[in-house]
Amino acid sequence: MKIRVINGPNLNMLGIREPDIYGSQTYSDLVDMISKHADRIGIEVEVLQSNHEGDLVDMIQECYGNIDGIVINPGAYTHTSVAIYDAAKAVSIPMIEVHISDVDSREAFRQISYIRAACIKTITGHGFKVYTEAIDFLTTYIKENS
Ligand code: DQA
Repeated sequence: MKIRVINGPNLNMLGIREPDIYGSQTYSDLVDMISKHADRIGIEVEVLQSNHEGDLVDMIQECYGNIDGIVINPGAYTHTSVAIYDAAKAVSIPMIEVHISDVDSREAFRQISYIRAACIKTITGHGFKVYTEAIDFLTTYIKENS
């Protein structure tokens, strides 16, 4: 089973950006944690990041025919991007939306998510753990639905 984890803008700045909200661990700590989890449960996981909306669209389109499930944290594009939503609908691969912070208890603009309607589940506010929780949920979902 192959899962792709896609991270949007500013997630490469983890550990530096607003540590009171996102914690003090770095992006490379996050990638390590996800890779170790994937090894432990015996699945293949790729972890990608871009600050550019079109790159994120490409990363979703490339999954078509190659990837069984997607975990996505579109960062700020969560709240603005119809293009990323359209890409998710186009490939129609099971997708989970994750956020490190609890977006629903932050500013009003963060409570809007375009991608949510294309996802089988949303997990927010548990710090880096949201990624491993999403991978576990997706793994079970894919096994049950294939
Ligand atoms: C975020 C929440 C978004 O509102 C914000 O723009 C991010 C990170 C999160 O993981 O909590 O960049 O997606």
